Amino acid sequence: METTTTNNDALLSARHIRKAYGSFIALRDISFDLPRGERHALIGPNGAGKSTFIACIAGQLPGVQGEMLFAGESILSLTPAQLARKGIGRTFQISRAFLEMTVLENMMAAFVITSGGWAGLRARAFKQMLEPAFAMLETVGMAERAGDRVADLSLGDRKRLEFGMALAGDPDLLLLDEPTAGMSIKERHFLMEMVAERVDAEGRTLLFVEHDIDVVMKIAARVSVLVRGAILAVGTPQEIKANDEVQAVYLGGGH
Ligand SMILES: Nc1ncnc2c1ncn2[C@@H]1O[C@H](COP(=O)(O)OP(=O)(O)O)[C@@H](O)[C@H]1O
Ligand SMILES: [Mg+2]
Repeated sequence: METTTTNNDALLSARHIRKAYGSFIALRDISFDLPRGERHALIGPNGAGKSTFIACIAGQLPGVQGEMLFAGESILSLTPAQLARKGIGRTFQISRAFLEMTVLENMMAAFVITSGGWAGLRARAFKQMLEPAFAMLETVGMAERAGDRVADLSLGDRKRLEFGMALAGDPDLLLLDEPTAGMSIKERHFLMEMVAERVDAEGRTLLFVEHDIDVVMKIAARVSVLVRGAILAVGTPQEIKANDEVQAVYLGGGH
């Protein structure tokens, strides 16, 4: 095998990542470096393998081949819970059961889960989640909605809450798979500007999948383009926009 050494300076460094679903190869030979503190967008046509790659990093898929280092440590064999403790966080959709609960209760639950779960939790400990939960709602601009049912929130507000819940785990690397899906243009920019601000202010690293190229141009320092399970191009948003091969993929009806 041709050896390409992993980049030890990168927070996340992937080499020769391969993932197949049965006989279908979703990721062919992905090598990818994400420097600490970078905001990086992953773009590409539907079915390119973007969600698969995010799920590989988050430890949610079996049978991933290749090598993946996070902060210099090999992570492909770790579970999502272990990865969360190491500092890899991703948003999860608020599940049905939690929709009837309030915004604040959901945020408190996020703090409970990141502090080790419900097992053995006493009422006093739950109360101790109140302060950090409320502070996080302020951070993501949702404090005024603290008492509202999540079911009554707009999509934009719910996404902001989910983002805040992901921050409760204090991740070094935050993975967002299409955080703005279904939102209006205005909501998209509003959410992602807040995400960028929080990521920078708190020294986190961001990898996000986004279809809105204007949002990508504004939020990402660098962009990777994934096409049919392989990385076609990596560069600044300007470089990617000017890349003829990338243009061909997007304008050639691959979307
Ligand atoms: N669980 C699965 N079983 C079989 N095929 C899958 C599965 N998940 C995704 N795929 C296929 O893998 C390819 C990549 O999917 P995905 O990573 O979701 O792409 P993207 O997020 O870029 O739209 C698609 O062709 C999809 O149909
Ligand atoms: Mg996807």
